[in-house]
Amino acid sequence: MPIDYSHIADEAKLQIEAVADKAALEELRIKYLGRKGVVAEFMARIPTLPADERKAYGSGLNDLKNKIGVCLAAKEAQLAAIVSSAPDGYIDVTLPGKKPLLGRFHPLTQVESEICDIFRRLGFKIFDGPEVETEYHNFEALNIPLEHPSRDAFDTFYIKLAGEPVSRLAGSTGKLLLRSHTSPAQIRAMKAAKPPVAIIMPGRVYRPDSVDASHCFMFHQVEGIAVDAKIRFSDLKGILIAFAQEMFGQKTKLRFRPSFFPFTEPSAEVDISCFLCRGQGCSVCKKSGWIEVLGCGMMHPHVLKSGGYDPKKWRGFAFGMGVERIAMLKFGINDIRLFFENDLRFLEQF
Ligand code: DAH
Repeated sequence: MPIDYSHIADEAKLQIEAVADKAALEELRIKYLGRKGVVAEFMARIPTLPADERKAYGSGLNDLKNKIGVCLAAKEAQLAAIVSSAPDGYIDVTLPGKKPLLGRFHPLTQVESEICDIFRRLGFKIFDGPEVETEYHNFEALNIPLEHPSRDAFDTFYIKLAGEPVSRLAGSTGKLLLRSHTSPAQIRAMKAAKPPVAIIMPGRVYRPDSVDASHCFMFHQVEGIAVDAKIRFSDLKGILIAFAQEMFGQKTKLRFRPSFFPFTEPSAEVDISCFLCRGQGCSVCKKSGWIEVLGCGMMHPHVLKSGGYDPKKWRGFAFGMGVERIAMLKFGINDIRLFFENDLRFLEQF
């Protein structure tokens, strides 16, 4: 028995004739002839019918499809004629608009803000130190004397002023350089505020490293200090545990390993329990269950003195961490260069 689809064809015809622009016409085409449209829906029922009914059902549907196709084509031609007969400068206000591209924060900016926000909630203020620093602030003031072997750990870009010869070793404290860590901001922050203080200092740092998947000649750090009359190592531990649990999850554990930095005594490196495998061992923590995230310690008396604080009256703790490293861990990024290539396909994922 032939199947009668004429009511569907009539309804489609009425709707198509009422349309006034291309976008609405396209909507109707999708509604009737699209992959999930009315015709497709009927087509999908064919295999469920008794074999002897399939042919009639199918040819009726083809008929319907052709009729709707004819109506759509006629309307399309009619709309095209209206536009082509329009006077010059005609603007088709019915065309759909172009969506503006929305900007977003760079993943490093997002992570840096997250770090700063956590410390702000813990009572820290933010201080911004210069990227072009003096040799004094980058080294001497931080208890890293000239020609002391500890300086080798901080390979540094020196700035050559016009007519001035530059040598890495022989230098005066007045030489300019690109800071190789954010620690010199400690000195400037102390000079700018009376103790007690709690300050974090985010920013760019520079080192003449060859670029590879884990090194770049420019990267970001966040430095922190807290100075008070009776501040202790346990205060440092408490603050860093609170920070790491906010940043990496409440179940995060911290491990403090004794270490050496010229500007802190005692010094420690801090590992967090791997937030991916929860300490079981995976590729992120290199099967150890722990990931190194920062350096810290009690501020050396010489450093307090450089900042103008009396080390007999004041004690402080300090810490420093790399923003790229934390962002790479958090987002599972395995190549630092991705941050700086500014490929929108990468940036749009954050
Ligand atoms: N300045 C160190 C670096 O760049 C990081 C650091 C370690 C900062 C220990 C600190 C600290 O304030 O206490 O490797």
